[in-house]
Amino acid sequence: MRKQIMVSIAPLVSTFTHKFVRNASTTSSFFPSQFDSYFEHNPRDKIYTYNRDIETLMKSGSVDHALQLFDEMPMRDIITYNIVLSGLKRNGLSKEALYVYNQMVSQGFIESSSTFSTVLGVFSQEGLYQEGFQVHNRVVVLGLSLNVYVGSALIDLYMNMGLVDLALRLFNDLPERNLATWNQLLKGFGEFGMSQKLQLYYRMKREGVAPNPLTFCYLLRSFGNESVVDQGRELHSYTIKVGWAESDVFVSNALVDFYSACGSITDAEKSFEVIPTNDVISWNSLVSLYASNEIASDALRIFSMMQVSGKKPSIRSFVGLLNLSSRNVNIIIGKQIHCFVLKLGFDHGSCYVCSALIDMYGKCGEIESSVSIYESVPRKTIEVCNSLMTSFAHCGIVEDVIELFGLMVDEDIGFDEVSLSTTVNTLSRSTYAGLTSCKLLHLCAVKSGFAHDLAVSCSLIESYSRFGDVKSSRQIFNQLSSPNVICFTSIISAYSRNKMGTECYKLLEVMINKGLKPDKVTFSCVLTACNHSGMVHEGKMVFESMKTVHGVDPESQHVACMVDLLGHKGLLEEAERLLKQTQFNNDSAIWSSLLRHCRAHHNETVGKRIAETVIKLEPENASSWLQVSNFYSEIRDFETAKQIKDVALARRMQRDMFTPLRFK
Ligand SMILES: *[C@@H]1O[C@H](CO)[C@@H](O)[C@H](O)[C@H]1NC(C)=O
Ligand SMILES: *[C@@H]1O[C@H](CO)[C@@H](O)[C@H](O)[C@H]1NC(C)=O
Ligand SMILES: *[C@@H]1O[C@H](CO)[C@@H](O)[C@H](O)[C@H]1NC(C)=O
Ligand SMILES: *[C@@H]1O[C@H](CO)[C@@H](O)[C@H](O)[C@H]1NC(C)=O
Ligand SMILES: *[C@@H]1O[C@H](CO)[C@@H](O)[C@H](O)[C@H]1NC(C)=O
Ligand SMILES: *[C@@H]1O[C@H](CO)[C@@H](O)[C@H](O)[C@H]1NC(C)=O
Repeated sequence: MRKQIMVSIAPLVSTFTHKFVRNASTTSSFFPSQFDSYFEHNPRDKIYTYNRDIETLMKSGSVDHALQLFDEMPMRDIITYNIVLSGLKRNGLSKEALYVYNQMVSQGFIESSSTFSTVLGVFSQEGLYQEGFQVHNRVVVLGLSLNVYVGSALIDLYMNMGLVDLALRLFNDLPERNLATWNQLLKGFGEFGMSQKLQLYYRMKREGVAPNPLTFCYLLRSFGNESVVDQGRELHSYTIKVGWAESDVFVSNALVDFYSACGSITDAEKSFEVIPTNDVISWNSLVSLYASNEIASDALRIFSMMQVSGKKPSIRSFVGLLNLSSRNVNIIIGKQIHCFVLKLGFDHGSCYVCSALIDMYGKCGEIESSVSIYESVPRKTIEVCNSLMTSFAHCGIVEDVIELFGLMVDEDIGFDEVSLSTTVNTLSRSTYAGLTSCKLLHLCAVKSGFAHDLAVSCSLIESYSRFGDVKSSRQIFNQLSSPNVICFTSIISAYSRNKMGTECYKLLEVMINKGLKPDKVTFSCVLTACNHSGMVHEGKMVFESMKTVHGVDPESQHVACMVDLLGHKGLLEEAERLLKQTQFNNDSAIWSSLLRHCRAHHNETVGKRIAETVIKLEPENASSWLQVSNFYSEIRDFETAKQIKDVALARRMQRDMFTPLRFK
């Protein structure tokens, strides 16, 4: 057993032995030698005194001096080792601690419970799980597995390893569980869900262990993570009852974090207000909360309070504020935040901050700034590249989007679904790209495993159809296992773009039967297709169901489609009636479109009414008069046509007189 441990620890130790030994030997002699004569009388006392001195030195952080005394000791006991081990652990010298442990075991010392809890703690911190397992074996052999301290250390180790079941089993086997053990289990973040933690908490109370403030911090943290406001509120009332909500800095900050994570602004503010400024730890939670809720003024207020108190904003705060300025296209706030970023040196450290900066400048249309930030980033990650790419796309710099994608592939940066869908989406706007580029990116998507991503699929459906290859669009759509509204709209739009009304109508039915809710874009695609394909019956059904069945208010393009569809078929009065019933009865463009249909059908009765409306809606517009004049010519009322044309010419002259001269 002992041999096994030594073998496994030795290679790990060898890497630092050299440095460690040298460090120890270069320290100047610390202890006056006149004490030596005294110690010789009583070796036990001597060890005791050494131990006490080493402990004092370790506690004050004088590790080198402590180690020198340790080296000088002619005799050591297990307490010496325990003091040195926990001192090294406390001072963050894990590797040195393992070296000393190794030495101790090889010299035949038997570990005590305190040795194990220290050493297991080091393994846990350093992620040395294999070694941890071996030490667990030794714990069992030495009969210490039921010791509460050793048990805690083992639980901690297994929690860190993600072996939650094992940790729970050890926990249940412990004959006694103290508050620390309970807290250790509750501290585990992500390992246990909220309901499991709540059960643990109730069990703890049943077993008569009173929670302390830390217990609540741990619980609140995972409740916040899962946004369970009600349960958190109950804990909050309890902390108020016992007085910790205000008296304990950690609990009061945990409450702010909790309510912020749940998006409860008023509660977060209330919890924040009672904390004295010097005790605030939760600044960043509040900044992010305000930023994500578009409350720029409060986000900036807390942000500057933070500066005044000398607290460093977190990356999350910066990203939150930059996202806010990006969404609101507010370059002024964006630039202010950029200044802070530069001042605090976050610009080189965090790809999140850089991505957010690139994105912010891109959305605000300052693409040169985006590019220069991108260039200053030493290591280009996919996120950083994507931010630049979406900025290019936003600013309509299409060819650079495609080029950046090529660069990401060539330089082995890699790409993800965002890069793919953004690039595919811009293809049709590019001068150089064609169906071949679309097929190439499709292949890329298949090979990289992103073919089933919905955003990628939708962009491919769209892109293929723009290049006229609706068949490929349909194939991609058919491969989707559970297409959502956006996917359906993409394929309907693909058919609509290629004037295939029947397919659009059928897909709309399929979609509705699947319980999906078409939106105004879906309806616009279907109605456009019905108009193009002259599908009067279907068009009317779709238009009528829009508002009554699906609760989507028709917009002007929906009405325009219907008026064209009906007007084209000569259903002029019906088109007129429909238009009058909508709120777009004052839209001169739709009326004049209807007038064109009347002219095409030589329909005098309806046409005259509509001509009147067109003039009434835009009496100042010469082209309205001209159009009406043309209509009268068409129905062979040349007299009226001429009169109206004269008015039109007069109006045009009038307009030209009042507008400044333009040179050709
Ligand atoms: C909660 O935390 C875990 C682990 O950190 C994480 O995987 C999970 O997404 C979080 N849940 C929420 C809702 O944030
Ligand atoms: C900022 O925006 C990016 C991209 O829109 C998003 O992924 C990220 O979660 C946002 N971060 C914050 C803190 O709002
Ligand atoms: C309706 O279809 C016709 C013929 O294709 C077209 O000229 C017209 O612009 C379409 N109307 C709308 C509103 O799309
Ligand atoms: C004009 O259209 C209406 C229907 O919209 C029709 O009833 C009427 O007969 C048409 N008139 C002429 C002269 O074509
Ligand atoms: C039409 O009337 C609506 C109110 O019903 C108004 O909001 C809109 O601006 C008007 N449009 C035009 C082109 O006059
Ligand atoms: C006049 O009407 C035409 C056709 O409806 C339209 O294109 C144009 O913008 C209008 N001009 C003004 C000044 O409103």
